[in-house]
Amino acid sequence: MTRFDIITCQPHLLTGPFDHSILKRAQDKGLVEVHLHDLRKYAINKHGQIDDYAFGGGAGMVLMVEPIAKCIRELQEQRTYDAIIYMTPDGQTLNQPMANRLSMLQNIIILCGHYKGVDQRVRDLFVTHEISIGDYVLSGGELAAAVLADSLIRLIPGVLNDESSALSDSFQDNLLAPPVYSRPADFEGHTVPDILLSGNTPKVEEWRFEQAVQRTRQLRPDLLRDEKN
Ligand code: ADE
Repeated sequence: MTRFDIITCQPHLLTGPFDHSILKRAQDKGLVEVHLHDLRKYAINKHGQIDDYAFGGGAGMVLMVEPIAKCIRELQEQRTYDAIIYMTPDGQTLNQPMANRLSMLQNIIILCGHYKGVDQRVRDLFVTHEISIGDYVLSGGELAAAVLADSLIRLIPGVLNDESSALSDSFQDNLLAPPVYSRPADFEGHTVPDILLSGNTPKVEEWRFEQAVQRTRQLRPDLLRDEKN
């Protein structure tokens, strides 16, 4: 069982993604637990304050250290966490090898930033991983947290019905996935490659591998060069 505790000041942004499809089924099967924690419940005063101006001036509010520290410490009193991940555009860019590694952990906290981000002391004192989902800025870490959680949850054994299907995804083996086709075999004269209709499984596998290499060479040659990925 993998447990995600997601700390956010916008929990409603995260209810949708976990309430449907594969992420919902993973929870229903008892393979994953997702707990959303509203940062406002840990506010430092009765006004529900969780953010404040940045020392030194400048536009934008900063999520304060105290509410976040309180929430994380309460969680840590109940169990040990393998990772406390802060979603931030200046973090390490998420890729498949990272998702593979993180999917093996059991207890994960994901902290979503907002406004100008979190007080640096949160990062210094609590955070173990800082992850970005790409070189662009979102208005908060919630959508990024949903992307990260989705990429991990689908790798957890038993979550996907077809065990092999996560392994044949794009980026596993540093290759993009080959093209796929379904019925009809002929759509307005556009036909499916003959080999896929042949029933010759070894030949089909060979063709898929060749297509994957060709696609990767054409669309993402960097993946073939980048062995460390
Ligand atoms: N928060 C804002 N932008 C982000 C990004 N690109 N990745 C992760 N968290 C973010």
